[in-house]
Amino acid sequence: MKQTAYRAGSVQATRSSSRRRLHDRVTHSPDETLALGRELATLLSPPCLVLLEGELGSGKTVLAKGIAAGLGAAAESEVNSPTFALVHEYAGRRRVYHLDLYRVESARELASLGLEELLTQDATIIVEWGAKLLHVDAPVPRFEIYLEHRGEGERRIRVEEVAD
Ligand SMILES: Nc1ncnc2c1ncn2[C@@H]1O[C@H](COP(=O)(O)OP(=O)(O)OP(=O)(O)O)[C@@H](O)[C@H]1O
Ligand SMILES: [Mg+2]
Repeated sequence: MKQTAYRAGSVQATRSSSRRRLHDRVTHSPDETLALGRELATLLSPPCLVLLEGELGSGKTVLAKGIAAGLGAAAESEVNSPTFALVHEYAGRRRVYHLDLYRVESARELASLGLEELLTQDATIIVEWGAKLLHVDAPVPRFEIYLEHRGEGERRIRVEEVAD
């Protein structure tokens, strides 16, 4: 896969990092993916960045709902895809920013999202199509989550924690 080094403001590209596999699960329904999201929420202490990567319909938004609900930021039913708005903010017991970078194609568009400012907040930032940020050196803990179709109703979900 071709990877582009995106930059947002003074957020710098990085090279060295260590990673730890936290989960490698197959879920068999959207409900199981929601439950995994709620479980993952217990591992997250803001500020942190959660990058979701996987093809269309792989369950990124479903997982984001579970994470946001698990953090107490919003009810699952209130969380929907930010494909058009690019960023949704949920501020309940905890604050969550939910981004969808599907339509973001240039470093300039990425910079316009104000990611740098979001990273200074006591918030969890969940990013669909998160590979577009893989080269961003964010000064917060980062989780990379890879989702894959495994047949109808099944998704393989791998969760890695990355420390730069
Ligand atoms: N095990 C599963 N986990 C999650 N979603 C599942 C599962 N099985 C079936 N689905 C279905 O797959 C779809 C996942 O949609 P979702 O919007 O979460 O994907 P997405 O990765 O966010 O897509 P997009 O790239 O368009 O943003 C939903 O229709 C959901 O009902
Ligand atoms: Mg989505």
